[in-house]
Amino acid sequence: MSFHDKVVVVTGAGSGMGRAMVQEFVAQGARVAALDINEVSAVATVKALENPDQGLPVHVDVSSVESVDSAMSEIAEWGGGVHVLCNNAGIVDSFRPAHEIPLEEWHRTIAVDLTGPFLMARAVIPGMLERGEGVIVNTASISSFSAAGGGSAYTAAKHGVLGLTRQLSFDYGRRGIRVNAICPGATATGLTMPEGGSDFLPDTEAELGRIPAQRWCTPEEIAKLAVYLAGDDAGYIHGAAMVIDGGWLAAARNPI
Ligand SMILES: NC(=O)c1ccc[n+]([C@@H]2O[C@H](COP(=O)([O-])OP(=O)(O)OC[C@H]3O[C@@H](n4cnc5c(N)ncnc54)[C@H](O)[C@@H]3O)[C@@H](O)[C@H]2O)c1
Repeated sequence: MSFHDKVVVVTGAGSGMGRAMVQEFVAQGARVAALDINEVSAVATVKALENPDQGLPVHVDVSSVESVDSAMSEIAEWGGGVHVLCNNAGIVDSFRPAHEIPLEEWHRTIAVDLTGPFLMARAVIPGMLERGEGVIVNTASISSFSAAGGGSAYTAAKHGVLGLTRQLSFDYGRRGIRVNAICPGATATGLTMPEGGSDFLPDTEAELGRIPAQRWCTPEEIAKLAVYLAGDDAGYIHGAAMVIDGGWLAAARNPI
């Protein structure tokens, strides 16, 4: 129970990896604020916990300063200072080539996937500096390294998340805040599965052919990595991009 009484904030907590992160941190004794733009799903995440008192569903749009500020006030009232922030909320774009993307889609994707983690980090860092400790875990992607996992907006945003991770690590590491990124490959969540209501349906069979592990990742596997990165055993890991993709990037030249 290494997170006993610690306060963890997870964005995108209503589905997929975020929901699994809430469950894993709670299992480790943490009190977890489950943030999502879809309040109904955030409530469902907390209701499903063995002890729902350990969770707080909070509405947030991570791309909005006002919404982030109001969510942080709610969390402060409930739990005090934030020890761990998991910047996990994200959306995928429509995979269209750049000249076909409506500008609105570009702005929205960058706002949620890149500006969102920046705004959330900016909101928790002053408290972490005061206490001299804190951990931020950003959900990036293998799209932080390569093209084709989305369109221009998603790929650019996820490359940006790695840059943000490294800069935050550089700026705050010596002041007690560790910042790292998780870079998932194909993971079975609402973002990628038809039952999650996703518009984007990957060719699962073709993807499996490219992945040495020969299966998709589970949200729980991502969540366990987040818990590890947030814990003391990862104390020497700063500014890292932890790839968890079943070997997909390593086998990038495998045509299937
Ligand atoms: N699923 C994959 O294969 C995969 C691979 C690499 C990276 N990722 C990244 O993992 C993260 C989690 O995605 P997932 O696969 O669990 O997807 P998901 O769709 O299951 O969950 C994402 C959650 O984020 C929430 N959200 C969307 N916009 C928001 C906003 N503006 N403010 C607050 N919450 C918002 C959604 O309501 C949803 O509950 C994302 O950052 C995604 O880009 C996913």
